[in-house]
Order: sequence, then structure tokens, then C-alpha cells
Amino acid sequence: METNRGEWSSKFGFILAAAGSAIGLGNIWRFPYVVGQNGGAAFVLLYLFFVIIIGLPYMFAEMALGRSTQRNPVGAIEALKPRSPWKLAGYLGLLTAFGILSFYGVIAGWTFGYIFKMLSGKTGGFAGFISDPLLVTFLFALFLAITALIVHGGVARGIERWSKILMPMLFVILLGLVIYAVTLKGAAAGLTFYLKPDLTKITGSTMLAALGQAFFSLSLGMGLMITYGSYVSKKMNMVTSGFSIALFDTVIAIMAGLVIFPALFAMGKSPSAGPTLVFVVLPELFSMMPGGLVVGAFFFLLLSIAALTSTISLLEVPVAYLADERKISRKTTVWAVAFVTFLVGLPSALSQGASGFFTDFGLLPERLASADFLSHVSFLFGDLSLALGAFLISVFVGWVWGARLAADEIQSGSPGFARFRKIWIFMIRFFIPAVIFVILLNLFGIFG
Ligand code: TRP
Repeated sequence: METNRGEWSSKFGFILAAAGSAIGLGNIWRFPYVVGQNGGAAFVLLYLFFVIIIGLPYMFAEMALGRSTQRNPVGAIEALKPRSPWKLAGYLGLLTAFGILSFYGVIAGWTFGYIFKMLSGKTGGFAGFISDPLLVTFLFALFLAITALIVHGGVARGIERWSKILMPMLFVILLGLVIYAVTLKGAAAGLTFYLKPDLTKITGSTMLAALGQAFFSLSLGMGLMITYGSYVSKKMNMVTSGFSIALFDTVIAIMAGLVIFPALFAMGKSPSAGPTLVFVVLPELFSMMPGGLVVGAFFFLLLSIAALTSTISLLEVPVAYLADERKISRKTTVWAVAFVTFLVGLPSALSQGASGFFTDFGLLPERLASADFLSHVSFLFGDLSLALGAFLISVFVGWVWGARLAADEIQSGSPGFARFRKIWIFMIRFFIPAVIFVILLNLFGIFG
């Protein structure tokens, strides 16, 4: 992922980087906890529905925008519609990247710390761990520094090469954990919660949470796929690439749920614990398994790497903008963005017990986000602003750039797309913006 406006080494290189961005804490940490907070299986169904009918077609729009203009989100919009307010959609994307990275880095820090916690043999004491202000701040800063070092040093290719080995390993470990968890005594209640939908649980806020999670998990709605798509060659088949990315991403998330919910119910814990859910359940699961501590340490190592390929992508978006458009040196940009993110993320880092004020922040209604500051930021940037960004970008692609030009771009390299062209144009112009609009409206309607 060098930004000398190069291209990915191969189609596989792009899929790997984009899947690396998509697969991360969103699948293993965030997905189970939002499923838990939103009533289980009905939410899962809604999520799958949004991934297929909104996420995937929308992903092509971002990729087409990037490949056609070879620019970052702001530059791409500027190139197609110079000096128009549409550029604000690009800026919203940059802001969202900061916002997401600011809390994502905190959780990534915990994940990293848990490698050593597992090795030390102390699987409990999570509450003490996340409320230790120095420890969480240190881990957060460390994780951001590693991310910055990689984005700066351009050793991202090394990461790509590693991912080829490590991501399949994550998959294998996860598969082992699924088998272990579903055979636990008491697992059945968890499977029921996770897989047997109760449609009465669907409300306006669950819909936004499911839509937001679909965007979050696929790394959509803030221009990441524009940025990564800008390094793609005209010959690449966007349709099959996008399909593989969505498939890998979704399979990993579904598997994470198949570990967490059976285990959770077997342990008699509550599914609505929020951001701490996975960190409470998994270590306890590891402590029950023979050799579990080593498996656990290895699992958190792989998860840290999955998180790293995501934080790299989040940092890359504002860096690509500042380096391309503002001609600021890449080195300065990387460290400045990382430093600002650190400052913005501090309240999130301290919001799990270290600071009473940020732990019990409670600005947003409870049906939208738990009281802690981190959950607030996660809702505002990880759900709301991704949905808003996707709305603006789909209207931009569908109406301002023009759905036909965008479809031509997708079709280059993907001849088979011709068959879906008409329906895609309908989706991007009408269906996708309308669904997002209604969900947002409904949310604010309930607000009033
Ligand atoms: N998709 C990543 C995850 O699931 C998080 C992420 C990385 C992201 N880059 C993004 C989310 C861009 C939205 C936009 O862990």
C-alpha cells in the first residue's frame, strides 16, 4: 500500500488488503456485542440482509469512484464535481476515520495487552485491566505507534505477505473454538439466542445498528474503498473481488458469534454487556480449555494483527488526503494524524472505569449507546456517520457523477456485470439512499 499512486501487485493483493481492512475487531469484538445488545438472531438476520442488499452494491460504488479518479475521497469528488459542496462528504469521511481510529485503537491496545495477560496465566481481572489508566493509555499509544510506523515505513507489503498466512490461521483457530464452544454444556440456549429470530425485537435503533455494523465491518461509508480502489488496475474484476471480501468478512463475524453466544450462555452471563463482552467471555473460555492459555495468547496475537491491518487502513485515508492534496510530507502527516488521534481517543481509553466522568458519560439515550464515552464515539462514528457518509456517496455516485458512468467503470474488468447493470443502477440511485434515509429519519423521529 505505498502511496506513490502505485497499483496493487495483483488482484489478490487488493483483495488481501481490502479484506485485511474489513476483517478486524469489527468482526470479533464489535459484532458479538452489538448482536448481544440488540436482541440476538433477528439482528443477525437484518445484518446479513444489509450486507447483501446494501453493503455489497454500495462497495462497488466506492471502488469505482476510487479507480476512476485515482484519488483519495476528497480528491475523487473534487475531480468529478469541482468546487462543489459535495466535497464535504469527503471531509466527513476523513473525520470519521479519526473518530473510528480513536476508539478502535483503544480496543486494539487491549487485544495486544491480552497476549501477555494470557501468557502470564491470569485470565480474570478484566475490570481491573481496562480501568488501569496508565496501562490502557500505554497500550493505546503503543498500538497507534506501531500502526504509524507501518504506514510511514511502507512495510505494508510485508503485512500483506504475513496476512496471507496469519488470516487463514485466525480462521482455523476460530473454527476450533466454534467446535469447542457449541459442545459446552448449556450451549444450546446461546445458539437459540443467536440463530432463532424473534422479529418483534426489531426497532428503529436496531435497524441503524445493523446497518451501521454492516458498513463498519465491510469498511464502508468513509471512503476507505475509494482510497484502496484508487490503487487498483482497470483490469481488475471489482465484482468478484467485492464479493470475496464481503464473504470472508461475514463468515468470520458469524463464526465469532458461534463462539461467543454458546460460551456466554454456558457460563450464565448476560449478552448485553457491551464493549467488554468478548474480553470477559473469551479468556474464561480459554481458562477452561486444556492448553487454553497458549491458544488464548496465540488467538489474541492473531486478532492484534487483524486489528493492525484495519488500523493501517484507517490511518491511510487521512494520510493519503493530506499527502496528495495538501502536499504535506507523508512522514509528518502520519505522525501528526496518529498524535491527534491519540488525544481524541484518550477519553475513550479512560471510559471503562479509569475516569468516572467518561465511564458514566451518558449523553446519548441508552437505546443508542451505553453510557461510557467509548460507546458514544462508536455509535456516532461507527454507525451514524458511516450511514450518513454512505448516503451522501451513493447520491453522489448515482446522481452527480452519474450511475451510468459508474456502472461503466465497474464493468471494465468485470464483463459479467452487464447482466446486473440495470438493477445496480436502480439500487445506487433509489434503493440504497432511500433505505438509509428512512432509517436515519426514523431514528431522529424517535428522538423528537
Ligand atoms: N472494518 C474494520 C473492522 O471490522 C474496521 C475498519 C477499518 C473500518 N477501516 C474502516 C470501518 C473504514 C469503517 C471504515 O474491524
